Order: sequence, then C-alpha cells, then structure tokens
Amino acid sequence: MAQRFSRRTVLVTGAGSGIGRATALAFAAEGAHVVVAGRTAAPLDETVALIGERGGTALAVPADVARPGGAQALVEAAVGHFGSLDVAVNNAGVFRGGLPVADLPEADWHTQLDTNVTGVFLALRAQIRRMRTQPDGGAIVNVASNIGAHTRVPGTAAYGASKAAVTALSRAAALDHIGEGVRINAVSPGATATTMSLLPGETEAGRAERMRHAVPLGRVSRTEEVAAAVLYLASDDAASVVGTDLVVDGGGSL
Ligand SMILES: NC(=O)c1ccc[n+]([C@@H]2O[C@H](COP(=O)([O-])OP(=O)(O)OC[C@H]3O[C@@H](n4cnc5c(N)ncnc54)[C@H](OP(=O)(O)O)[C@@H]3O)[C@@H](O)[C@H]2O)c1
Repeated sequence: MAQRFSRRTVLVTGAGSGIGRATALAFAAEGAHVVVAGRTAAPLDETVALIGERGGTALAVPADVARPGGAQALVEAAVGHFGSLDVAVNNAGVFRGGLPVADLPEADWHTQLDTNVTGVFLALRAQIRRMRTQPDGGAIVNVASNIGAHTRVPGTAAYGASKAAVTALSRAAALDHIGEGVRINAVSPGATATTMSLLPGETEAGRAERMRHAVPLGRVSRTEEVAAAVLYLASDDAASVVGTDLVVDGGGSL
C-alpha cells in the first residue's frame, strides 16, 4: 500500500464512528500518526485500538469542536504528542432532519449551525494558525455534504444551510491561506453507510431498497470511498487542488 502520510500527523474530528473512523484508519494505514477526536471517549478508544491492531499509531483526544477551546486543545495535543500538525480533517457533524422550516425548533437550528459551521470555523482557525508557522505548511479537508451547495432534500433546511456554509467557508479559507502554505478543500458525501443516513426506525436493508431508486449509482457510498477522497485531497497528489468541493454521492445530486 502507498505510504503517502508517513511521518505526518493527521487530526480527524468525529473519528469515533462512520466516515471519521474510516478516514482515521485509512490515514494510519498509509503511515500517519493520527489524533482522533470526538465528544465521547469510548468510541475514540475503539478507533485507536483498531488502528493499533493494524500496526498503526493513534491518540484519542475527547473534545467538543463547537465549544471555545476545543479545537485549540486538539491542535496542541497533536503538536505536543507528535511534533506537528500536517493534515486536519474537520468531519464532526450532526444531522437533525424531517421538519419543514415553519416547524423547525430553534434548538435544532442552533445545534446544527454550532457544530457544522462554527465548529468548522473554530477548527480551521486553530489549525491554520499552527500550519502557517510550519516549514511545510499543511492541508485541511472539511467534510460538507451534497445536501446544501449541491442538492436539496425536503426537511433538511438547517442542515443544508450549515453544509452550504462549509463549502463556502472552505473556499474562502483556501483563498485566504494558500499563499501561506495551507491548502484547504472540502469533500461533499451523499448518503453514506453510517447511522446518519438511516431514517428513524429504518434498517440497513430498508435503506438499501430506498437508495436503489434514489441514487443513480443504486446504493449508498461506503465510508472507505469517502475516506479515499479525503486522503486524495490531503495528499501531495492534490498539491495544486485548492478550494474545491469534491462530491462523492453516486450521482445523487446530478
Ligand atoms: N452519512 C451520510 O450519509 C453523510 C452524508 C453527507 C455528509 N455527511 C457528513 O459526514 C460527517 C460524518 O458523518 P457520519 O455519517 O460518519 O456520522 P456519525 O457516525 O454520526 O459521525 C459524526 C461524528 O461526529 C462527532 N461529533 C458530533 N458533534 C461533535 C462535536 N460537537 N465535537 C466533536 N465531535 C462531534 C460524533 O461523535 P460524538 O457524538 O461522540 O461527539 C460522531 O463520531 C458529518 O459531518 C456529516 O454531516 C454524512
């Protein structure tokens, strides 16, 4: 297997499950030292154990990216433990769907905007402040969604607004900081094989049947397929890719 990230330190938020865990495993398999973050310690420890079983190196750091200080603590943990922060993946996110705008509780709006937008802003700011001091700079990949900038789904206004903001924020930050050696991009997954894409009470078989018709590819994306896009954008293979938003959705937003 290619070792595109050997001797590099990679931070992945939301790495206790789903896309974030698959991404952390993929970076570790390519030689990275991985800092895995999320609010809950136990699933992070599981991710670290999975990486360790495969011969990789990882550190679990519980943190809430939506709270002041959370993002900064993650940068300090990466630098303090491994000596640098070379790649950051801002993947932590929440989804509260199902209600039209007129019925949307303010709490659902704030939860999604706080984590998905403010959380990414605070993370970006802390990460860029560190990376621009490093001789080799750094690369950042933000996880947005095809819901937002690329397509719309009924009952997902707050989530879509938050993820469209991630796309816009990624482009703006890329423009502001590429001259300082910090390269920023986004990945926009469509429905992916995690609990987030299950409707309330839906089984994986039920989701598979729904996706056969809803997605041109005929299925959800695998978490490893989204991770592969993240690793590409974070790698030197994408050295001249700046401010893009790579849609990985089986054609769901065409
Ligand atoms: N699955 C899909 O179909 C899909 C489609 C498009 C985009 N996405 C995006 O992909 C990303 C990963 O989602 P997923 O499908 O892998 O869902 P997931 O399994 O629910 O993962 C989300 C992770 O984010 C963490 N998290 C949530 N709020 C946080 C906070 N404030 N601070 C730190 N960590 C936090 C969660 O852990 P804790 O609860 O322990 O903090 C969890 O591990 C999200 O940004 C999501 O919006 C997913």
